Amino acid sequence: MHSFANLDSLTYSVMIKHSSILILLYFFSMFPSELPAQPDFVPNYDEGQVPNYTLPDPLVFKNGVEVKGELEWQQRRAEILQFFSSQVYGVTPSPPLNTKSKVLSTDNDALSGKATRKEIRLFLTNKKTRPYIDILLFTPNQATRPVPAFLGLNFYGNHTVHTAPNITLSDQWMRANEDFGIVNHRATESSRGVRASRWPIEMIIDRGYALATVYCGDIDPDKNDFQDGVHPLFYQSGQSMPESNEWGTIGAWAWGLSRAADHLQQEEAINDNQIAVIGHSRLGKAALWAGAQDARFALVISNNSGCGGAALSKRAYGETVGRINHSFPHWFCNNFEQYNKNEAGLPVDQHQLLALIAPRPLYVASAEEDQWADPRGEFLSAVHATPVYKLLGKEGLPVSEMPEIDQPVMGTIGYHIRHGGHDINAYDWQQYLDFADKHFGSSAP
Ligand code: GCU
Repeated sequence: MHSFANLDSLTYSVMIKHSSILILLYFFSMFPSELPAQPDFVPNYDEGQVPNYTLPDPLVFKNGVEVKGELEWQQRRAEILQFFSSQVYGVTPSPPLNTKSKVLSTDNDALSGKATRKEIRLFLTNKKTRPYIDILLFTPNQATRPVPAFLGLNFYGNHTVHTAPNITLSDQWMRANEDFGIVNHRATESSRGVRASRWPIEMIIDRGYALATVYCGDIDPDKNDFQDGVHPLFYQSGQSMPESNEWGTIGAWAWGLSRAADHLQQEEAINDNQIAVIGHSRLGKAALWAGAQDARFALVISNNSGCGGAALSKRAYGETVGRINHSFPHWFCNNFEQYNKNEAGLPVDQHQLLALIAPRPLYVASAEEDQWADPRGEFLSAVHATPVYKLLGKEGLPVSEMPEIDQPVMGTIGYHIRHGGHDINAYDWQQYLDFADKHFGSSAP
């Protein structure tokens, strides 16, 4: 660190002359992604400042006609799905690619003999190069019949969910995180197991469930380009970016979850009618979008998914549409930008995304200190999806008042707000296992 006394006089006078600029630059360098980018954004955390808003009714068509029965709901559902596809997450290309798979490793004696651990690589083209998707799968050894499975994406590589030294170390680009042993955007040996607290695999296995996970970056690395994930596989000639209505990164992640489900359906150890999709935070947004589009997901879990996930956008509480599109321009389709600072103009809201999952069981979870994700907005979204569940003969969410901290409620929609911050932990998983038992029947050996 220089002291002023060591500086020559020219530098000193330049520093004096430009001292205000230097102070500003120093200030900005402390908050690189915050201040220069969007200096005017101050999140609202005051319930009294939530704007008045009217939620679009999932049971009323765009033209004002009311939905009275299941058949009409199917048409209304298509209308809502179409909007989320073309204006929010972007259209998913179809048909899906023909994937081929290869088992990379099998360990029949994982978790002290309780589980079989497999790694399966799904090739998305006929080349052996990326993009491909590596599935890490644990199945309980004691099972006497095919078991239900949880499938979720992870943030930092399959090797981060468990400390086992022989899980393939991801070589794909990762978000920077030196604390997690991610150096120059690549995983190192020291990142093994760093996210194990988010994946209580033993508890899941002991309860008789399988667990499958995939590194989200295998599908599309979490950065603002569309070059090294699955998007280029679908480009028309000359295209290098998705069109304004085409899928962003969350859309790709959701698509990848469906490809992993294609594979899980082939696994004999798994009951293919009981695949639950789960995700935390940005990956919770992806889990919801996957569950909305792909009815093979028999149960859907959103953990702290917040803005663009379970939380109502029109409340503009915590993270807003403008803010998320600004910070993560690659997550949604470009059309979604029309609603930056204009949530009132949105003809849908996220309770309708939840409604697309009906009548399948859905769990929404919040955390008390995670105000950025708007816990109340997540809860209200579940409340306002409930009429669709009711129309389909299901209970939906059993309460209309927000439950106390750590007091889960479980109907066809489940909800809890736990103490603590933005995370997914063993407490959350206990609730998801109870909820899955409730809907799938207990699988405990
Ligand atoms: C950021 C982002 C959220 C997201 C979260 C996460 O906080 O603003 O929308 O859910 O990251 O994925 O952890």
